[in-house]
Amino acid sequence: MTPPTGPGLALPDGFLLGASTSAHQVEGNNVSSDWWAIENRPGTFVAERSGDAADSLHRWPEDMDLLSELGFNAYRFSIEWARVEPERGQVSRAAVAHYRAMVRGALERGLTPVVTLHHFTSPRWFSTLGGWASPDSADLFASYARVAAEILLPGVRHVATINEPNMIALMHTLIRGAGLAADDGTGRSAGGEPTGAELDLGSAEPDASVAQALIRAHRAATAVLKAADPTLQVGWTVANQAYQAEPGAEEAMAAYARPREDIYLEAAREDDWIGVQAYTRHRIGKDGPLPVPQGAPTTLTGWEVYPEALGEAVRHTADVVGPHVPVMVTENGIATADDEQRIAYTTGALASLASAMRDGIDVRGYLHWSALDNYEWGSYRPTFGLIAVDAQTFARTPKPSAGWLGSLARAGRIPEGPDGPGAPDGLPAAGPARVRSAG
Ligand code: BGC
Repeated sequence: MTPPTGPGLALPDGFLLGASTSAHQVEGNNVSSDWWAIENRPGTFVAERSGDAADSLHRWPEDMDLLSELGFNAYRFSIEWARVEPERGQVSRAAVAHYRAMVRGALERGLTPVVTLHHFTSPRWFSTLGGWASPDSADLFASYARVAAEILLPGVRHVATINEPNMIALMHTLIRGAGLAADDGTGRSAGGEPTGAELDLGSAEPDASVAQALIRAHRAATAVLKAADPTLQVGWTVANQAYQAEPGAEEAMAAYARPREDIYLEAAREDDWIGVQAYTRHRIGKDGPLPVPQGAPTTLTGWEVYPEALGEAVRHTADVVGPHVPVMVTENGIATADDEQRIAYTTGALASLASAMRDGIDVRGYLHWSALDNYEWGSYRPTFGLIAVDAQTFARTPKPSAGWLGSLARAGRIPEGPDGPGAPDGLPAAGPARVRSAG
């Protein structure tokens, strides 16, 4: 793939350029969570356990030092509900203090914190009650949001209630449908547990009642957060699939996309911002989703390498949510062992974002997934990180892509495609990171 070259788009003042992580994927030993329970029971379908992850529970100051030295001005991380409330109604003051220190630590380093309250994992007790399907789920989540407000305030401006509710509704069908929830150690399907590959997101029907429960929980948490500080900017983040209809399949695509993506965008029309998370496209034919085109390059997660998905997702989001709700890209990246490919992919993705911004879409930030190589829900093999992590010593080593993206943040410009206006004016070239490798 040849990265587009061009003059580069000057970013508006206050634009956030940084990277993202989630607690379970980097902290390690998230022992009170439902995912930990699933990973660690005998015969689990999960190929690899999270274990110590990147040990960011202890090494978050080093992670933040690196991000700020690289030139970034923002860091998205999540608070782990299972640590804050390991048993129902029992708040861990130590966990509250821990995450409060992270908020302060980010601000001290010039990193604007963008904080997610729920990133896929829930406390095990919540799952035992039925998870999002429990009649109390919105109230329980709102109580947690009340505690989270103590962590966020003062200092945090941008908070995401729930990460990818659309993926949660699909996972609910798959995991609970197969009797694989975390609520009992033995609840396996009669035929044994499926492999990760058999949990096919493409063919699963999202659970409509869980979707409504997630929307209720989002609204309840938003009300709690706004009551704590009306200036907090509250939103949620959606997994954008950049659906493309094959000729004649426009209606089939709209019907497929609505319960999987659009209802969650529609639910954000009253929000302060909307998080876009885009990695690849999904082609839809008259009979449903189509496989990756033959011969198309794919990533370590098996997804088609398709950087333009970002611009397409941002445009679709703005169309559905409306122009009054600003967009923040809260995830975009590529699972690859080839860091040059990461730079090429990200260059293309940023060019498609710049083009959407040129067309007037109000985009307030770009947070790359991911800051670190981390636990990709069942495996450490798909490496999304700008920074490599040694599995034994946890030493962090920024990759060239980290130095490159950080220098764009410093320059306040992102690449544009060959069609971008203006004359070339020397965007930073891709080169080795100029920060220390932390040991
Ligand atoms: C999730 C991340 C995940 C990433 C790559 C997003 O769906 O929010 O947790 O690691 O995609 O698969």
